Amino acid sequence: MNEDMKKPILPGKGASDYERYLSTDVLLSLQKTPGTLSHKDEMLFFVVHQSEELLMKGAAWELGRSREYIEAADFGNACRLMRRANPMIEHCITLLHLLETISPFDYQIIRAGLGHGSGLDSPGFLSLLHMGPRLGDAFHQQLKQAGVSLIEMYRRHDEFFGLHETAEALLDFDERMHLFRFHHLKLAQRIIGGGVIGTMGTPVEVLHQRMEHLFYKNLWDVRNQITAEANERLQQSGTNSKY
Ligand code: HEM
Repeated sequence: MNEDMKKPILPGKGASDYERYLSTDVLLSLQKTPGTLSHKDEMLFFVVHQSEELLMKGAAWELGRSREYIEAADFGNACRLMRRANPMIEHCITLLHLLETISPFDYQIIRAGLGHGSGLDSPGFLSLLHMGPRLGDAFHQQLKQAGVSLIEMYRRHDEFFGLHETAEALLDFDERMHLFRFHHLKLAQRIIGGGVIGTMGTPVEVLHQRMEHLFYKNLWDVRNQITAEANERLQQSGTNSKY
């Protein structure tokens, strides 16, 4: 390689353009130093939380763009970006499982240093919670504009392909948020127990209640309606199915 090509040309701190572009100096100084960790497992605790915040920030960003595409009735691009955001949330779920490797006894040492710190204040999760209803509103506005009910759009999904794909991608998003909450609840039950009070004074039990929250209940409910209608047709034709 030409020696000149190795020299950084971008502004900023760092020995290489890789480090300068990504601000790795700053990024890698955002964790406690080995000497100040309360426990060696605290490094994992930091890395997992900070990675999740970045991934959630990335997902919320793409969902925001997706909403703009829905508003412009560009469903292809809206779905393309939701196909990017949804796996980011899946990565957040995968990362949660890493924390299951911390022994409950050791976690209490880390927990003692968290103050009132709580995931309830997670900027990444809050921005996803913020995006959910806004995406839903944009979708329903388009449904209204197309002059069809939700069930009618599902019935004529070939005709309303873009709307249908958008609805399914929204459902993917809702499902991943639900799965995040489910796996997070399991994590909390494993590490601190299901019958205790969290660092902000909230009982772990509250996590159970928050799991019931869905952004797009009507998208879930329309499936009941579709099955009920199909059952009616089957009954009328004399055949029956329990599936
Ligand atoms: C050892 C690991 C963890 C434990 C024991 C734990 C425990 C808890 C508890 C007890 C709560 C209820 C509120 C409170 O009192 O703080 C909570 C909420 C929350 N935590 Fe965690 N957490 C862990 C890891 C994580 C990670 C890695 C994230 C990722 C950002 C996270 C995100 C959240 C969120 C978003 C909430 C609010 C949940 C909701 O709105 O449904 N937690 N956590």
